[in-house]
Amino acid sequence: MPIAPVTFAPALADLAARGLRRRRRIARRGAHDTADILLDGRPCVDFCSNDYLGLAAHPRVVEAFVGAAREHGVGARASHLITGHEPPHEALEQEIAAWTGRERALVFSTGYMANTGLASALAGREASVYGDRLNHASLIDGGRLSRAALHHYPHGDVAALERMLAAQESGRALVLTDGVFSMDGDLAPLPDLAGACARHGAFLAVDDAHGLGVVGATGRGSLEHFGLTAQQVPALVGTFGKAFGTFGAFVAGSEELVETLVQRARTYIYTTALPPAAAEATRAALAASIAEPWRRQRVLALTRRFRERALAAGLPLAESGTPIQPVLLGGADAAVGASRALLERGFFVAAIRPPTVPADTSRLRVTLSAAHRDGDVDALVAALADVIRP
Ligand SMILES: Cc1ncc(COP(=O)(O)O)c(C=O)c1O
Repeated sequence: MPIAPVTFAPALADLAARGLRRRRRIARRGAHDTADILLDGRPCVDFCSNDYLGLAAHPRVVEAFVGAAREHGVGARASHLITGHEPPHEALEQEIAAWTGRERALVFSTGYMANTGLASALAGREASVYGDRLNHASLIDGGRLSRAALHHYPHGDVAALERMLAAQESGRALVLTDGVFSMDGDLAPLPDLAGACARHGAFLAVDDAHGLGVVGATGRGSLEHFGLTAQQVPALVGTFGKAFGTFGAFVAGSEELVETLVQRARTYIYTTALPPAAAEATRAALAASIAEPWRRQRVLALTRRFRERALAAGLPLAESGTPIQPVLLGGADAAVGASRALLERGFFVAAIRPPTVPADTSRLRVTLSAAHRDGDVDALVAALADVIRP
């Protein structure tokens, strides 16, 4: 067969024809504590950021970032294993280990890299990796990168997972799941998953990117919510770009697990370390999230307020108790149309379409933040009811 010419236009046109071509907008936010933004110059309230606690513009977080940039410079200048590992990284790792109740934590540059690095360091060709069908793309890609045999079980279906584990004949088994599902807002059935893993000798890793800071009596995430120990869930992944309002991620676990990642995780080894100022800002954000529990209480109160009003208005909400509140619309065009109509009314809620979510489950992904005002939430529900008429 002759070599095919490299052309891009047909595939792009096809995406556009199917309503799946995405475009970027310029979001301008001041360093202030509301969710008001200018989107392509148009004022609106942002209902799709992951800044659940409103910490991205917290004065102490901003100060920590600026002060550390003055002290350390901006870039880390090298990878962690060369000369990029600086005192702010080390201090952040110790604080995260203490906060999560683990022996050790390792800071990665992004959550995407933490998940791909973890899966590929722990599983090889001879292993099997199991994941929930609605897992975040970075967990799916981690499984692919590991070259292990990949299996996806239906969303939340622990019985199906257990059947798959029982059928495995050799090699390690690694089970990967979101703690809070990023596009659905529901919690994974972690106690049952932990039980299945214990029965079959599988290793469980939970990515709690959307649970940490928000879920659990003190914001320690889905594991705290369910009362699960480090023995039951030996690897915990968290990201700093969401509730902590900064940038970066971590894997926390035993001394041996983290040392294995230092030696084996290619996304940790072969990349420039996170800017030390970002680590310092995260330390301030972690401290603020602990010192100001009202932020967690506020985002959860706003979540309840949104749900009560939206359900009373007959809106098609997904079953979720977290600040991720999907409004399920089905077709990609319906979601894009609703998002556009909301923007005209002063609210930005992104339309989430395939391949991010399965076909025919396109949605508006509403997210709440402690930075929202009560009136923002009430006005959003009124606008949604106006835009989504049956
Ligand atoms: C569940 C989950 N894990 C990991 C990531 C990736 O984290 P990061 O943005 O730090 O790469 C995201 C989103 O970005 C996510 O939603």
